[in-house]
Amino acid sequence: DTGEKVNTHIITLTRFLTEEQIKHKEATGDFTLLCHALQYSFKSIAYYIRRATLVNLTGLAGSSNTTGDEQKKLDVISNDLFIEAMRSCGKVAMLVSEEEETEIHFPQAAGARYIVSCDPIDGSSNLDAGVSVGTIFAVHKIPDGVNVARKEDILKPGTELVAAGFTMYGASAQLVMTMKGSTVNGFTLDNGIGEFILSHPDMRIPKSRAIYSVNEGNSLYWEDKTINYFNSLKQAQADGKPYSARYIGSMVADAYRTLLYGGIFAYPADKKSPKGKLRILYECAPMALVFENAGGQAVDSTMNRMLEVVPEHIHDRSGIFMGSYDEIEKVKSFYK
Ligand code: AHG
Ligand code: MN
Ligand code: MN
Ligand code: MN
Repeated sequence: DTGEKVNTHIITLTRFLTEEQIKHKEATGDFTLLCHALQYSFKSIAYYIRRATLVNLTGLAGSSNTTGDEQKKLDVISNDLFIEAMRSCGKVAMLVSEEEETEIHFPQAAGARYIVSCDPIDGSSNLDAGVSVGTIFAVHKIPDGVNVARKEDILKPGTELVAAGFTMYGASAQLVMTMKGSTVNGFTLDNGIGEFILSHPDMRIPKSRAIYSVNEGNSLYWEDKTINYFNSLKQAQADGKPYSARYIGSMVADAYRTLLYGGIFAYPADKKSPKGKLRILYECAPMALVFENAGGQAVDSTMNRMLEVVPEHIHDRSGIFMGSYDEIEKVKSFYK
């Protein structure tokens, strides 16, 4: 036996999706095609992020979006790439994006049954510093008997999502996805062959870990409960040590670390932002589905299960606490 062993039993995302489709006898293949379009958009967004400094794609686009954020050039480009991928796959009837004021219909996609909500670039304030950012997606299905997708088909609790996930563009691109009532699986983009490879099957978040992730600069605006909870983490714990603080400022990157290491990520509602900052449809709900399916929890600032929060409008916001099962139990005890 000579030389290095090459693993030839690699599970690409394509193979994974094909095997999933075979397991679900009722599947038509539409969801698989949608996922192919999603992964294409992640690859192309990753490509432009990596080249941004070299091809003048850093900085502002000069416009703002509906939720008041200044758009970066890459927010706009990634949004356009994502929309075009969803339009051309023929399986998406309607799309909601952070960067689009209203929902977009794709009437050419005859018979399409899916609705996708997206945050094309999460953490875009970090782009020009080359810090990790991400793309978030959430997939709803149009109810049987409904022909044309309507806004009310997504203004529903996250428990109705059929799939959700995100890609983090870090040292490598990491795709994490889950389906309703299923496991969470993580894939790493192999740039050499241009494929996402299953690297983290059946991800489970550790039950607890002494790490917290929150923009503590906002503590001036926090309610007492929030102040008391985070202060408690800075006291000596059972092992005599306080928690560690980690805050990247890209929710996807902070959440991905939390998923792997355990602990908590929070963006609480506060006196300045009584409804929180993060948006329900394309930030809070998809992350909540991932965390719950990985054995963790996600709740809003009133300690309601995040997946049961119903947005009234497509860009509605919520406070959010997500993380290890035991840590969210601790948060609840401070808020009760
Ligand atoms: P986006 O870049 O999609 O607008 O999202 C920004 C969000 C999220 O990525 C991050 O957790 C949070 O804003 C950071 O906000 P602060 O700068 O207020 O901490
Ligand atoms: Mn934004
Ligand atoms: Mn975001
Ligand atoms: Mn964004």
